[in-house]
Amino acid sequence: MKPSTISELLSKDITLHEVEVKGWVRTFRANRFIALNDGSSLQNIQCVVDFENTDENTLKRITTGAAVHIKGELTESQGKGQSVEIQVSSITILGDSDPETYPIQPKKHSFEFLREQAHLRTRTNTFSAVMRLRSALSFAIHQYFNTNGFHYVHTPIITGSDAEGAGEMFRVTNLDAKNPPLTENGEVDYTKDFFGKETNLTVSGQLEAETYAMSLGKVYTFGPTFRAENSNTSRHLSEFWMIEPEVAFMDLAGNMDLAEDFMKYVINYVLTNNHDDLVFLDQRLQDEDKKKPQAERNEMTLLEKLRFVVDNNFKRVSYTEAIDILRNSKPNKKKKFNYLIEEWGADLQSEHERFLVEKHFKCPVILFDYPANIKAFYMRLNEDGKTVRAMDILFPGIGEIVGGAQREERLDVLKQKMAVLGIDEEELWWYLDLRKYGTAVHSGFGLGFERLVMFTTGMTNIRDVIPFPRTPQNAEF
Ligand code: 4AD
Ligand code: MG
Repeated sequence: MKPSTISELLSKDITLHEVEVKGWVRTFRANRFIALNDGSSLQNIQCVVDFENTDENTLKRITTGAAVHIKGELTESQGKGQSVEIQVSSITILGDSDPETYPIQPKKHSFEFLREQAHLRTRTNTFSAVMRLRSALSFAIHQYFNTNGFHYVHTPIITGSDAEGAGEMFRVTNLDAKNPPLTENGEVDYTKDFFGKETNLTVSGQLEAETYAMSLGKVYTFGPTFRAENSNTSRHLSEFWMIEPEVAFMDLAGNMDLAEDFMKYVINYVLTNNHDDLVFLDQRLQDEDKKKPQAERNEMTLLEKLRFVVDNNFKRVSYTEAIDILRNSKPNKKKKFNYLIEEWGADLQSEHERFLVEKHFKCPVILFDYPANIKAFYMRLNEDGKTVRAMDILFPGIGEIVGGAQREERLDVLKQKMAVLGIDEEELWWYLDLRKYGTAVHSGFGLGFERLVMFTTGMTNIRDVIPFPRTPQNAEF
């Protein structure tokens, strides 16, 4: 007989029969009732042990965290709280778990504590739900692009260009740190390094993805990206995953339509397919909210928030309009913002982004047409000569979740821009080639995967939505 998963056993159409299951003991109550979980779903299955006919030593070894193999009869449950249970006929302890030292006790642990136990934290309901949702979202993302004619491209993790301008990079080298080869000027001689040049971990696959969009038409990347910024916030990781579609012959309006349709699709996917996990997280947040003063409570439950995003249009607002709103806003007038908005051209801080989505519009917002000098070199310059076809998508509770743009496709304009910013043409010769040979309008964006997982699960710290977070001073596991 093939062991079943608990999720299979609890599915509606299961017939009552002899079953086998393997999993980890969550609790063992009254020397009789095991709550068993195997990660297949949020649900435990209750296994009823015939303690009178089970040997004493085995009973003692049924402890929280132990791995067990159970055989028995699936029957309708006598008790409340479950429809079926297993009447255990045989139990084998596969792996003991010392209840004195096992870190995941059957009680509430703080997320801070569980971060230090990241190798075991998915044995809790919250983290198993979050990570199943992460997996489902990832599948939905591939499914969306696959069914819409996109090709999946694997852009390099090690990059030789540091011109993307998206942030500080991590160097990749195998030179001897104590005794590196030096040039005549006394600087480290990277021509002697592994690749014969300076290389780094990528901050984005965009530039390489553009080359594929200009041949395969519609492409996307979905991979890890690395940023060495020293920003210890609840929304930044040093290693995070990014989804970056790039499409030939698509302008900024098309880019916004794509981003909105895509995000609604993936959120709708989990609403349909991961209902149990979402209901659990929704309830968790409602319980948290009850402990807070009224004013700090969420206006919508998690499920309401997700449905709201799926059912409503994102509000599209130009940077110029946004600046007007912010300049005249209460927190600006009362000097409540840390950075006051005084004039057009100011970079928006997360306090401004959150004011716009959470207080003013109360819905996802797409901001577009930003001042050229606060955005990356590759963005398409508008006819006004001072704004670029950039777009950022802002989500309630998250702030910026997507950053994207229509790309500068005109060789002369792009070269001029690079010259001003001191970006070496030789380094990006291949990027410029795209503008020499068959150039065309094209656009794309980057969605921060962990920020999407945060939004979808209601988790408020980005360290809690990636299995093993990397942040400044922290790379345990
Ligand atoms: O806005 P960013 O820097 O855009 C790019 O990298 C473009 N090359 C994307 C493109 O057009 N193809 O980053 C995109 C998104 C952000 O909106 C944010 O959601 C996420 O990536 N992000 C981070 N997520 C976690 N930790 C960090 N340190 C992040 N930095 C950016
Ligand atoms: Mg950005």
